[in-house]
Amino acid sequence: MDTAVAEKPVLSPLTARRGGSLQGRARVPGDKSISHRALILGALTVGETTVAGLLEGDDVLHTAAAMRALGAKVERGQDGIWRVHGVGVGGFAEPSGPLYFGNSGTGVRLAIGAVAGSPVTATFDGDASLRKRPMRRVLDPLARMGARVIEAVENDRLPLTLQGPRDPIPIVYEPPVASAQLKSAVLLAGLAAPGETTVIEAEATRDHTERLLKHFGAKVTTKPHGEHGRRVTLQGQPELEPANIVVPADPSSAAFPLVAALLVPGSEVMLEAVMTNPLRTGLYTTLKEMGAKIETTATRDDGGEEVADLRVTAGALKGVDVPPERAPSMIDEYPILAVAASFAEGETRMRGLKELRVKESDRLAATADMLRANGVIADIDGDDLIVRGKGRPPGGGEVATHMDHRIAMAALVMGLASENPVRIDDAAFIATSFPGFVELMRALGADFS
Ligand code: S3P
Repeated sequence: MDTAVAEKPVLSPLTARRGGSLQGRARVPGDKSISHRALILGALTVGETTVAGLLEGDDVLHTAAAMRALGAKVERGQDGIWRVHGVGVGGFAEPSGPLYFGNSGTGVRLAIGAVAGSPVTATFDGDASLRKRPMRRVLDPLARMGARVIEAVENDRLPLTLQGPRDPIPIVYEPPVASAQLKSAVLLAGLAAPGETTVIEAEATRDHTERLLKHFGAKVTTKPHGEHGRRVTLQGQPELEPANIVVPADPSSAAFPLVAALLVPGSEVMLEAVMTNPLRTGLYTTLKEMGAKIETTATRDDGGEEVADLRVTAGALKGVDVPPERAPSMIDEYPILAVAASFAEGETRMRGLKELRVKESDRLAATADMLRANGVIADIDGDDLIVRGKGRPPGGGEVATHMDHRIAMAALVMGLASENPVRIDDAAFIATSFPGFVELMRALGADFS
């Protein structure tokens, strides 16, 4: 197996410093989760699917290339609309080389699920960060559905080679971790299985796969399960109908300018058309509990998802206790929440963050290190992160981003409001999820150099 990894060898350091207030309107790029899913479902559908507002970040572009390698036609029109001509459920062609997913856990885990519904053999690979991340969580249920792992590093890591079954078996599956990627991998494989595939979640996770499956004409039913969970059932072997998809702005990306506007004195920023799916808005709930002034206006429905404009005004924050059951609805937002907590008065305890250890970096450790490098008192207690806020922190730190886009953006936001500038070692990975971040923030008034 070819183990060469395409890395980004040249580091691009960047420094953020305190300046004037942030002002203006901005629309952040399309949602990453929906963008991956739109391409993958389009690739499994015969006919033309159109996708407007696709996130053109590195992660999603890798998924587009993978879908092409599996036989779908995926093109960006001059009008910025992406057009996908898919092969139909179970119709992927065997790719001629490894499928490369860069930094993206979502891209690779969802693609593994989708490939497990076709009788082909494919090799999956990624960058040094992705090669460290666990794949066993998706391989276990897919093995029950008939997929076979031919080869994998340490049984669990990329690069790995998977053979999809000729006749996938529908299963009832209870994921051991709250993960939308895991749920989605099983549902995507279940498309090719006869009968019902069911995922029973103890904690509900983002439901974009279910929503999009319905949008493509599949029969999916969702029922409450326990206090915080859901039981999702997909009727297999549907005739998927090509769909037109409008991707709303990514709330996980909006979080960075939003928190920056809260922290930089005198700021007022309007973030346009942000998706407000309740399974994604835990950060906004938490910030409001901390006293943040976030006004939601122009609430509407756009392509099957709720969206709204968010007006944010700078103001004082206080520390809060963030319950563990909120984690799935804000799993990517803890680094930026930890930055907000550093500027608050009092202690913020974020509970139940075990999953952060297996993100693009060990995000629990990287977040605590980022804060400490900037003079903030931060402790990890089991799976909890505790931040002791005392108003404006000293800053002045150099932050190691560990190939993690969200650590990079969170640290830069910190530097916009801390006493002294904050420097990150590498801004290159920001392009995985938020191309144009630096320019968008500069247009609002941020001092990055
Ligand atoms: C995602 C699910 C989350 C999240 C990731 C996107 C998705 O991962 O961290 O950025 O699109 O399904 P997990 O499913 O591993 O929690």
